[in-house]
Amino acid sequence: MAEKLIGTIPQMGYGTWNHEGDEAYNGVIWALEAGCRHIDTAQGYRNELEVGRAIRDGGVPRSDIHITTKIAPENYGLGRVMESSKQSLEDLGVDQVDLLLLHWPSPHNEYPLESYISQFAEVFDQGLAKMIGVSNFTIPLLKETKKLLGDRPITTNQCEIHVFMQNRPIVDYCRSIGMPMTAYCPLARGAIKDDPTLLEIGAAHNATEAQIALAFLMAEGHITIPSSSKKERIIENFEARNITLSEEEMGRLRGLERGQRLVNGAWVPVWDT
Ligand SMILES: NC(=O)c1ccc[n+]([C@@H]2O[C@H](COP(=O)([O-])OP(=O)(O)OC[C@H]3O[C@@H](n4cnc5c(N)ncnc54)[C@H](OP(=O)(O)O)[C@@H]3O)[C@@H](O)[C@H]2O)c1
Repeated sequence: MAEKLIGTIPQMGYGTWNHEGDEAYNGVIWALEAGCRHIDTAQGYRNELEVGRAIRDGGVPRSDIHITTKIAPENYGLGRVMESSKQSLEDLGVDQVDLLLLHWPSPHNEYPLESYISQFAEVFDQGLAKMIGVSNFTIPLLKETKKLLGDRPITTNQCEIHVFMQNRPIVDYCRSIGMPMTAYCPLARGAIKDDPTLLEIGAAHNATEAQIALAFLMAEGHITIPSSSKKERIIENFEARNITLSEEEMGRLRGLERGQRLVNGAWVPVWDT
């Protein structure tokens, strides 16, 4: 199946959180072998070196691969946004990343939004990233950021979205302004396993719970970046692109919402409700 693009971004990518060293390297190699052309990393994942090496070794032309990385909030201080972005490019071994995100709004407003957004704009203006975007931004923060960035488009907002936490307030807002979202934790970190609805719909498509969970997110129009440390699951997850769900099945899957937010803590913004 031809890769579906959202704008210029392959709709299904491969996430690398919690994978370091050989695990990070092998995962990217297997994802590329499976046909995946979108790799998601971050300064905070401490694997940009291995991800970059795997991208070089994987035998796929750099121009065919979309790379996202994210600036860690501890690097939002004066001068640090540019400096750490340059370090990311160096570690990844590329001249430019395809997409650069602000990983989180600055926790407890340690750094003023105006300050790190203006530095971020400069990174974009200097061409270190083809596209820029945000992650874990709420509606008020997105509105503010949009004003500060002026003409520079915010390509995506990467947030937690899965069948058990469909994140409707921010999804509806981003949809209303035509901004695609990127769904992280799309497998609810494995909690999709053995869910009876996913199993039942899966049986009708000869598909696994994970594949149905991913097909749902893609049918909702999201970019998504599942992760696995296992070659066979990376292939399985990527194959979810071939599944078409009926409206009735989509309705049942929307009904799995149970507000189960997995990524939460003292550093998060006040989530939209
Ligand atoms: N922007 C942010 O703040 C943020 C936050 C979190 C995540 N992310 C990004 O999103 C990516 C994905 O999120 P995530 O890694 O937290 O969670 P996830 O993709 O929802 O789930 C990964 C977990 O599911 C298991 N799994 C993978 N494929 C499976 C399958 N086919 N069947 C059953 N279980 C399966 C994996 O175990 P095995 O490894 O054993 O297969 C792993 O424990 C991350 O890697 C990262 O790139 C971004």
